[in-house]
Amino acid sequence: MSKLKDKLQEKIEAWRPRTTALLKKAGDVKLGDVTIGMAIGGARGVKCLVTDISYLDPQEGIRFRGFTIPETLQKLPKVPGSDMPYVEGFLYLLLTGDVPTKADAEEVAGELKARAAVPQYVFDVLRAMPRDTHPMTMLSAAILCMQRDSIYVKRYNEGLGKNDHWDPTYEDAMNLLARLPEIGAYIFRMKYRADTPIAPDPKLDWGGNFAHMMGVPQPYDDVSRLYFILHSDHESGNVSAHTGHLVASALSDVYYSASAMINGLAGPLHGLANQEVLRWIQGVMEKMGGKIPTEEEMGKFVWDTLESGQVVPGFGHAVLRKTDPRYMEQRNFCLKHLPNDPIFKYVDLLFKVVPPILEKQGKAKNPWPNVDAQSGVIQWYYGVREYDFYTCLFGIGRALGVMCNIIWDRALGYPIERPKSVTTAMLEEVAAKAEAAAKK
Ligand SMILES: CC(C)(COP(=O)(O)OP(=O)(O)OC[C@H]1O[C@@H](n2cnc3c(N)ncnc32)[C@H](O)[C@@H]1OP(=O)(O)O)[C@@H](O)C(=O)NCCC(=O)NCCS
Repeated sequence: MSKLKDKLQEKIEAWRPRTTALLKKAGDVKLGDVTIGMAIGGARGVKCLVTDISYLDPQEGIRFRGFTIPETLQKLPKVPGSDMPYVEGFLYLLLTGDVPTKADAEEVAGELKARAAVPQYVFDVLRAMPRDTHPMTMLSAAILCMQRDSIYVKRYNEGLGKNDHWDPTYEDAMNLLARLPEIGAYIFRMKYRADTPIAPDPKLDWGGNFAHMMGVPQPYDDVSRLYFILHSDHESGNVSAHTGHLVASALSDVYYSASAMINGLAGPLHGLANQEVLRWIQGVMEKMGGKIPTEEEMGKFVWDTLESGQVVPGFGHAVLRKTDPRYMEQRNFCLKHLPNDPIFKYVDLLFKVVPPILEKQGKAKNPWPNVDAQSGVIQWYYGVREYDFYTCLFGIGRALGVMCNIIWDRALGYPIERPKSVTTAMLEEVAAKAEAAAKK
């Protein structure tokens, strides 16, 4: 067994009694109430999911295993010669809750390398798809077709005790994660770089190897490491994480779950927003003939967007009520590496102009920028300009969090998810009763 798996087993066995005790002693204790608004409004604010991998505070933003983003980046061992940590060390943190040593991170890197070979049939499937297929569709299909290799399915069919479900899930999850950088880079090079895939370099770490296979020079390796870490997890209720969890709750294997989570991420209100941001900014740039608009001119573009019934991409959030720290971390990167880039200047101007306008319009509950407002700019600057591809980068990063969650779901024996629905007539009846009671 790998050291990581050993450690995980220890953690799981120590954790299980906590979940069992909560269910046994406090299963009936109320966590909150559900209003009609919540039921119609996409279950916003309904506390009915459990995860220990990350927690999203509306004011503070994400914490990974209790650490803020700056703390996470500071505590994790760095790849030699790089400003950014090993993604492999981050995976260790997400899975175990412990900060890894450099040796731990390198050991996980070794484990992933040993699992990294992508089966030829995956490339065959990708090559059989029309070349203008959206890269998210390709990524989803590539993941799904590997389902035939699921170790979980094999072990399940042989008979698997409830406490052992996490073990083959771990095997599948690590195999999938190990293969994702090559699959993602292959899609990119096949579609956008005249079909010239670059072979992996076994000496490189997960993020560094991705940058190498993309064919983009340094510091794109650090961009990749940062990007994957920032996009990995955002607690469990967002569409991609929740979809992964929901599908896995039926004991579908991680290939089915990850493919589904990619499909959810592909929507314009979720992961696709980062490409929308760039498309929108470039529309503004075109109208401005490339010059940087004044605050007033930019304000007018924002109002025009709102008045035409569209959302301003990259702003707002279902949970956050402050500027997204993932936005800030990428902004810091831009200030260091591309402070004079014209698109970054646009983004920074939007940071000034959009929040007061959204506040004035009075609809968005959060007028502040989210992660997607910055990420496309960095990719564009380093020459990854095919913005259809940006959501694939998000998907590769998000797979880290989703895989850790599914392993722990299995470890703690979380059951099949099944919220209850009601009819509109039932809601009207409840509403009428509440109105009558209020009149008394
Ligand atoms: C992220 C998002 C989907 C959250 O949705 P939500 O939880 O329903 O957001 P809110 O509760 O604040 O929405 C209330 C209203 O404000 C509007 N609103 C929210 N964000 C807005 C934005 N960036 N621009 C314009 N209007 C916005 C909503 O469309 C909604 O309008 P409606 O009442 O006419 O339907 C939403 O803010 C959005 O569409 N943002 C732009 C896309 C984006 O950046 N997505 C990436 C998220 S990480």
